[in-house]
Amino acid sequence: MRFLVIHGPNLNRLGQREPDIYGEKTVAEIDNLLQKRCKELGVEINTFQSNSEGAIIDFIQSQIGKANGIIINPGALTHYGLSLRDAIVDSALPTIEVHLSNIYAREEWRAHSVIAPIAKGQISGLGWRGYLAALDILYAQCKEQN
Ligand code: DQA
Repeated sequence: MRFLVIHGPNLNRLGQREPDIYGEKTVAEIDNLLQKRCKELGVEINTFQSNSEGAIIDFIQSQIGKANGIIINPGALTHYGLSLRDAIVDSALPTIEVHLSNIYAREEWRAHSVIAPIAKGQISGLGWRGYLAALDILYAQCKEQN
């Protein structure tokens, strides 16, 4: 089993960017925690961060047929990234959308996700633990299907 973990725009700044909202862990620290859990589960992850929607789309397209699911924090692309949404649909990969902060408890424009309707589900507001929860859920669901 192989999953993609994708971090969208500005998430390379985690740890320094508004830590009261997004927490103190860096993206590398989150990826390391995920890698550790992957070893326990016996699965692989391929992690990717970009500030560019096109680069994220290129990455997803390059992984079609090579992965079993996607965990994605699309950053602000969540709210308007229709090309990203189309790429996820095209990949046909089960996708879990993760947000560190609770997007429903912030500015009104953050409460709308263009990704949520095509995702299996969404985890929002649970900090870095949300990624680990997403990994466990994706793993369990893929295992059920095999
Ligand atoms: C975010 C929430 C988005 O609204 C924001 O643009 C981000 C991070 C989160 O993880 O809480 O960049 O996706």
